[in-house]
Amino acid sequence: MSYNFDATIERRGTDCEKWDLLEKIFGTTDVLPFWVADMDFAAAPGIAAALQARASHPVYGYQTKEEKVFHAAMAWEARRHGWVIERDWILNTPGVVASLSAAVLSLTSPGDKIVIQPPVYPPFFTCVTRNGRQVVENPLRERNGCWEMDLADLERKLDPTVKMLILCSPHNPVGRVWTRDELRTLGDICLRHGITVLADEIHCDLVFPGHRHVPFASLGREYANASVTFFSPSKTFNIAGTYTSFVVLPDPDKHRRYGDLVAALDIGEGNLFGLTAAEAAYKTGGDWLDNLLSYLGANADALVDFARRELPGVRVEKPEGTYLAWLDFRTRFTDHDALKKFLIHDAKVGLSDGLSFGRQGAGFARFNFACPRTLMLEGLSRIADALRKKG
Ligand SMILES: Cc1ncc(COP(=O)(O)O)c(C=O)c1O
Repeated sequence: MSYNFDATIERRGTDCEKWDLLEKIFGTTDVLPFWVADMDFAAAPGIAAALQARASHPVYGYQTKEEKVFHAAMAWEARRHGWVIERDWILNTPGVVASLSAAVLSLTSPGDKIVIQPPVYPPFFTCVTRNGRQVVENPLRERNGCWEMDLADLERKLDPTVKMLILCSPHNPVGRVWTRDELRTLGDICLRHGITVLADEIHCDLVFPGHRHVPFASLGREYANASVTFFSPSKTFNIAGTYTSFVVLPDPDKHRRYGDLVAALDIGEGNLFGLTAAEAAYKTGGDWLDNLLSYLGANADALVDFARRELPGVRVEKPEGTYLAWLDFRTRFTDHDALKKFLIHDAKVGLSDGLSFGRQGAGFARFNFACPRTLMLEGLSRIADALRKKG
């Protein structure tokens, strides 16, 4: 089947965060938005059909979809990523960020230290600090445009007060798809130090040819037991507004502690429409996703090609996964505030502020290229024109 990812879908006026909050986020409605991580594409047709079918029945009472959805999610992980999840490992929760917080609260104690690897998805900081734990930064390092984990730095920072590490796999914003060797080396360090790994794998399906997502827990039983994995159809299928996600805890003790908190808060029941969308996505969305990945891969190539030709002094590498490009403006802007102002007021584009990913993001901005190619090129042309004017 073919899908039209070139179609322009008007999202303004649909209570859409990306397009309807421009004034609040950027102080002007005069920017094209390439910020928050959802896509300007219609979701897979099977999802809309399932939602419409369910909505056409006029009673929206308590549901009992959980088993069907778990099996669809487990079959998806096995088929796409070769990871066999056992039924009694998996739980359902309303969103990955909420689930990360639940894991922090149930598996560590107040004051414990938790490692994150900035630049990284901003809520990784707040899931730790807002829950009364302390962040330990193990920054990624860049080598010839390629980002890698600094495992020597990690080893130096691990002491008995460090209890957990939050892994972003694939990594938002740098777009790395960690290799089996990288994950195993990281896992071995964490196992040696008794560290629980929270593996946020929300971007696991968005991986370009030549790279392969390896679920952390699939490395072996001891890695599975030391970890909690988070995944969701929300990024993959563009249904982030339905807030439905999955948590996998193979270790019975962690499962019990996490499950107790979810039960105490009564947040494990699931939302009728979120579960309906998730089930349809995992059962019917494979072909749509393959087509989406071709389109996104071509967008990434076009973005990098455009930047090489038209954005002198701006560095960007093709991401290995995700639909996010991490633009390095450091040679053009030494002052981060000046970069922010330039993007909003001169180029008139709304990108994600590099500094929100940690202080390592100074001089960077994140560009979400999950949109029709013409729109992406319009945004990039605006940056190119403004750079030329700036001289
Ligand atoms: C790494 C990562 N985790 C979690 C989320 C959001 O998850 P949710 O909307 O399910 O809370 C995002 C969204 O961009 C993300 O990039």
